Amino acid sequence: MRRKVAIIGAGRVGSTTAQVLAYKELCDIVLVNRTAGIAQGVALDIQEGAPIDGIDVDIIGTDDYEKIKDSDVVVVTAGIPRKEGMSRDELLGTNAKIVEDICKKVKRYAPHCVLVVLTNPLDAMVYLAKKVTGFPKNRVVGMAGILDSSRFRSFIAAELKVGVDEVSAMVLGGHGDFMVPLPSHSSVAGIPLTELLPKAKIDSLIKRTRDGGAEIIKLEKESSAFYAPASSLALMVESILKDKKTIVPCAAFLEGEYGINGIFVGVPVILGATGVSKVVELKLGKSEQAALKLSASKIKESIKRLM
Ligand code: 2OP
Repeated sequence: MRRKVAIIGAGRVGSTTAQVLAYKELCDIVLVNRTAGIAQGVALDIQEGAPIDGIDVDIIGTDDYEKIKDSDVVVVTAGIPRKEGMSRDELLGTNAKIVEDICKKVKRYAPHCVLVVLTNPLDAMVYLAKKVTGFPKNRVVGMAGILDSSRFRSFIAAELKVGVDEVSAMVLGGHGDFMVPLPSHSSVAGIPLTELLPKAKIDSLIKRTRDGGAEIIKLEKESSAFYAPASSLALMVESILKDKKTIVPCAAFLEGEYGINGIFVGVPVILGATGVSKVVELKLGKSEQAALKLSASKIKESIKRLM
C-alpha cells in the first residue's frame, strides 16, 4: 500500500508540489482547496498526464477535509502570498486565521501525521500550527531553509561556473529579511566558500539570497515563487516517507539549542520518518551568533503579534 500525503492549498505552490510528488511516485496524494472545484481540477489534470510519464499513484482533489484522514504527511501551503513591496510579516493576520482553521482539521483527521508548513510568515505560522494541533515538536516542521540555501547554492554555482551538486550551503534563522546565510558552513567540493570568492562578492550573493523571494515577485508581479518552494517541500516529504535522515535546514522548535527557547527557527535538522529527530548544532562565529539571535528576536516579535 502506498503512503498518503495531503497537500492543503491548491494554489501554485500546492499544485506544483502535488505534481513533483506525483513524478516521484512516492505516495498517493490528496490535494485540498476550500473553494470547490480548484483542487479537483488540478488533480484531474495531473492524473490525465500520468500515463505519459508512467506514473502510478492515486491523486484526488477535494474541498472535503475528511479525505485527508490518516495521511502520513500533511503539507500546508494555503494562505495569501506576498505582493510586490510587501514583507512576509504583513500576511500575519490573514494567514493566521487560515492556518489555525486548517490545523484544527489536521488534528481531527490526521492526528498522527508529520505536519509540514510553508505558509508565510513561516516561522510564526509553524509556531501556530504546533500550538493548535498540540503535536509533539518532532512532528511539526517548517519549510524555508531548504529553499533559502538552494537559492544561495544556485547563485554560488552560477558565480563559480560549477555544477550545483558541487555546492553545499547553509542558511539559518527566520525566513525573512533577517535570515542568516553562513559562508563559514558553505563550500564547493569541500573547499570553503571563503577561500573561493572575495568577501564583497559573497556579501552580494548573501543579499541576493535574502531578497530571493522578493526578486521573483518583482519580476512576476502577480505571483511569488513556487517552483523552488515546491521542490523544497517534495524533498522534505521524501526524507520523511523514506526515512532518509537527511540533514537539511528547516524551521524546528528549539528548546535551548543555539541558546534559543520556545520558538521555531531555521536550523539544520535530521529529517526522517518521525519528522525532526534531532537539531544539529553548528559551531558559529560571534557575528553569526549575533545575527541568529537578532533573527530569533524578530520571530518572537511576530509571534507576540499573533497572541
Ligand atoms: C519565497 O521566499 C514563498 O516565501 C517564499 O519565495
